[in-house]
Amino acid sequence: MDLFQPVFKQYKKRHPFPDLKDVIDFKNAKQLTQEIERFSLKDPALPQLVGLHPVKEWKAYTLNKHPGLYIILNPFESGFECYWVSQCLDKYSQKPNITNLDAHIERTEDLSIWNDFVKLNRTEITKDDLLWKLRWTTLGYHYNWDTKEYSDHFTPFPADLSFLAAYIAAVLGYPQFSAEAGIVNYYHMDSTLAGHTDHSEFDHDAPLISISFGQEAIFLIGGVTKETEPSAIFLRHGDICVMAGASRLAYHAVPKIIHSDTRPLPTEFPSWLSDHMSCVTPANHTCSFSEEGCLATALTDQTCSCGSKGCLNMCTDMSLKEINKDIIKTLLELDRNAFDIYLKSSRINVNIRQVFKPGQTFPNKR
Ligand code: SIN
Repeated sequence: MDLFQPVFKQYKKRHPFPDLKDVIDFKNAKQLTQEIERFSLKDPALPQLVGLHPVKEWKAYTLNKHPGLYIILNPFESGFECYWVSQCLDKYSQKPNITNLDAHIERTEDLSIWNDFVKLNRTEITKDDLLWKLRWTTLGYHYNWDTKEYSDHFTPFPADLSFLAAYIAAVLGYPQFSAEAGIVNYYHMDSTLAGHTDHSEFDHDAPLISISFGQEAIFLIGGVTKETEPSAIFLRHGDICVMAGASRLAYHAVPKIIHSDTRPLPTEFPSWLSDHMSCVTPANHTCSFSEEGCLATALTDQTCSCGSKGCLNMCTDMSLKEINKDIIKTLLELDRNAFDIYLKSSRINVNIRQVFKPGQTFPNKR
């Protein structure tokens, strides 16, 4: 008996607006029962990206009914989520990554849908804007929506997102995680995502890491068949949902996006952000931070066996220090107006997968 679809339909309803009293809100400590457990995370003692709170301050939960599901409440420092939103709207949606727009338009190498929207200096986004029409982007090994398989077409997985995913995976006890494919989903207020499982990867032991930005979502998580009644959970700006173990192949869906008043981009970034900018630039920097607080000295310079600095064994050519500098630069240069316009009526979810078992590659499927 399908117990998933009726719940999906119940939350999808527009009129009357669904009753949200049973939606699990991990932010609301009063609601926590013995069904919900706080989960202790391991500090992976890895060099980390700027803009993440120390792991000891992260709050993570599991649900007894859904072993292997982890929800980490927004671990980003205020405003830093917006770097990732910006990447999803700008760099990740550029070539060579693939988007839904490719079926309709010829994208040039240097087309930035985001920059084109920013340049218009508009007060609203309209249904004719390419930015509005952007619905998905695939990264790394590109997912084929028709065959529901990964193609052997591979383009380099973004180094920054690879670092972030590896860090999150390590915190949950998966230090070998390798980000090989990603899907960015862009939702508007009326978008939904039907119940499905993510089973096309060849490695189901590796977790699926999914990060939410912008407007709130109701996320449904069920079991490996639709016979399990799903639980509904709020996913908010910056929240991370990880499906691993017994939940790795569980049915999940997004029946509703809910408008929230949260302004994801703070009106002002703290002054230390621009101070850091000066200190990550020159080799002989001077800054007002203690060694520990200073990006230029605190970040890794370690050389991995591949020869790259700060590689964390992921063989990227961009060091962590460069990525951190880019994060700060991007945030300081972000066009607030365009950003607010887009995010007040949109949600972005980026989910990152390890496709292959360690050592396996195409064409040694399964
Ligand atoms: C997905 O399952 O592909 C996305 C889930 C989400 O948007 O939270």
